[in-house]
Amino acid sequence: MKLLEERIKKDGKALGKTVLKVDSFINHQVDSEFMDALGKDFAEHFKDCGITKVFTIESSGIAPALMTAKYLDVPMIILKKQTSKILNGKVYQTRVTSFTKGTSYELTLYQDYIDPSDKVLLIDDFLANGEAAMGASRLIKESGAELSGIGILIEKSFQKGRKRLEDAGYYVYSQARIGRLDKGVIEFLPEDAP
Ligand code: G4P
Ligand code: NA
Ligand code: NA
Repeated sequence: MKLLEERIKKDGKALGKTVLKVDSFINHQVDSEFMDALGKDFAEHFKDCGITKVFTIESSGIAPALMTAKYLDVPMIILKKQTSKILNGKVYQTRVTSFTKGTSYELTLYQDYIDPSDKVLLIDDFLANGEAAMGASRLIKESGAELSGIGILIEKSFQKGRKRLEDAGYYVYSQARIGRLDKGVIEFLPEDAP
């Protein structure tokens, strides 16, 4: 998606070979008009998939997920990162480990907000190793609903997330695909690259 690539070229900062800083428009300061445009693009892309709910993982996925849900005219649900187990039987919960940040958390979803008939679109800001998305897929599967698509703002294609998700049978659409990062260097891949 040209709009996101152009913005990353203008405002993104590659700190080294693995991390891209996008604090000024996605992760810290948020550009609402820009998020609206990204949400519109996701909605357009997934409009024929029968999506009934948009899911995201707190916190940076919320803004684009909300805009996507607005354009698809469906609810948006935020998966929580609980630190302790709630043992009342009303949640789906799974542990997710982040290799980028060296942390782990209990990804949590109240059972009230998903139904076996749901077709879910998962939206997130970054795709690295795919741990968060695989965690979300486990919760959705456990509920009996279907994960019908995954929409990512920035895919780091040199990490294994996309392949893992595709190998697990999920369809992934990334608005920007990054083939290589290095200090001051950001190289994009075309949308249809393998
Ligand atoms: P994975 O789920 O694909 O395996 O990703 P990983 O564990 O590597 O990512 C953990 C956190 O780090 C996520 O944020 C993710 O968005 C963020 N992240 C991964 N790579 C980058 C990067 O290159 N740049 C930036 N800015 N963030 C990156 P999170 O901990 O879930 O927090 P939040 O930002 O959503 O609150
Ligand atoms: Na995130
Ligand atoms: Na993030």
